[in-house]
Amino acid sequence: MHILVTGGAGYIGSHTCVVLLEAGHEVSVLDNLCNSSAEALRRVEAITGRSLRFVEGDIRDPAKLAQALEGGVEAVIHFAALKAVGESCEQPLAYFDNNISGTIALMQAMEAKGVPRLVFSSSATVYGEAKTNPVDEQAPLSVTNPYGRTKLVMEQLIGDWSASQSGASAVLLRYFNPVGAHPSGRIGEDPQGEPNNLMPYVAQVAVGRRERLRVYGNDYPTPDGTGVRDYIHVMDLARAHVRAVEYAAGNRGCRAFNLGTGRGYSVLEVITAFEEATGRLVPYDIEARRPGDVAALTADPSLAQVELGWRAELDIAAMCEDAWRWQSGNPEGYA
Ligand code: NAD
Ligand code: UD1
Repeated sequence: MHILVTGGAGYIGSHTCVVLLEAGHEVSVLDNLCNSSAEALRRVEAITGRSLRFVEGDIRDPAKLAQALEGGVEAVIHFAALKAVGESCEQPLAYFDNNISGTIALMQAMEAKGVPRLVFSSSATVYGEAKTNPVDEQAPLSVTNPYGRTKLVMEQLIGDWSASQSGASAVLLRYFNPVGAHPSGRIGEDPQGEPNNLMPYVAQVAVGRRERLRVYGNDYPTPDGTGVRDYIHVMDLARAHVRAVEYAAGNRGCRAFNLGTGRGYSVLEVITAFEEATGRLVPYDIEARRPGDVAALTADPSLAQVELGWRAELDIAAMCEDAWRWQSGNPEGYA
């Protein structure tokens, strides 16, 4: 298939481009590089020995979208979005515009070109404060911040739009906590400024770029008191997108799938796993809880296994080893 990947220069998008190219698909990327570097795409081409078509531009720009959808694009994987929870609380309109208006512009362009298949990057954040774990796709949905609201609204808009188009199909992928990097260590997560998320922070402490990790709370009702999450290797996640786009080709309608391992790790367990996998110490201090955090959130990923024939294969040791190979080989990211 010829697949347009919006946000393809970003963290998850670049890894997905590798897997799509290796599976023999033709890939076009539309990215405005607001949170990424074109260097990631050059490295995708070097890893795979294949080339992709890159259109630099914004998904809210109809001319760029039309250009990106040229050449017989048959499906879109839509990663392009702003994703920082704290920033979304300070600048909600920027998030509504970029994420929601951008997705509407994308659907309009797809409809105009007759492109019927859409795979969308959603998030476990749509479960809000889940009452029970693991959560399956039937769990009630809610939002706790403007970023989460954009994901939930986009899920609903995509559902309505795909229902209105005969022959259209949409797959909503709810990622739990993506971590790790391509095993070559040539592409990985390159957060701008201070990382918000745990694994890149741990890796930057280990490489000496940051002094100490702050562990946000050890008084949660979890076995060691620190927050529990379902970390998933970005290569497993990337593989799921290939399955999802193939599923969309054979199934109409709109379906949501959880993408996680089904196994939770606490913050302290992640630190220990990282230290064991890398031989580096990660000094930390226990601090107050981070506002908005939940005690535990893990996936029931069984629907993806049944319907997509996908399950996560890589364990926490591989996640830490690969995150470290990327971080130690590229201490300043793509810079
Ligand atoms: P990322 O920031 O690395 O990638 C997003 C890419 O989209 C970037 O390359 C950015 O330049 C591009 N982009 C943003 N707005 C754009 C616009 N208006 N036009 C064109 N390009 C634009 O983030 P990521 O971690 O790879 O996340 C990809 C997707 O997955 C996002 O939709 C995110 O919300 C979602 N998601 C991520 C996580 C996570 O932990 N990384 C978890 C759940 C969901
Ligand atoms: C965060 C976002 C969520 C988003 C997800 C993936 C918040 C409140 N939630 O989820 O919306 O979908 O990223 O992008 O931002 N931790 C530390 N020290 C740190 C960083 C994190 O102790 O420096 C802890 C957190 O308290 C949490 C765990 O590590 O218990 C994981 O945190 P993080 O990687 O930020 O992911 P989430 O909070 O699950």
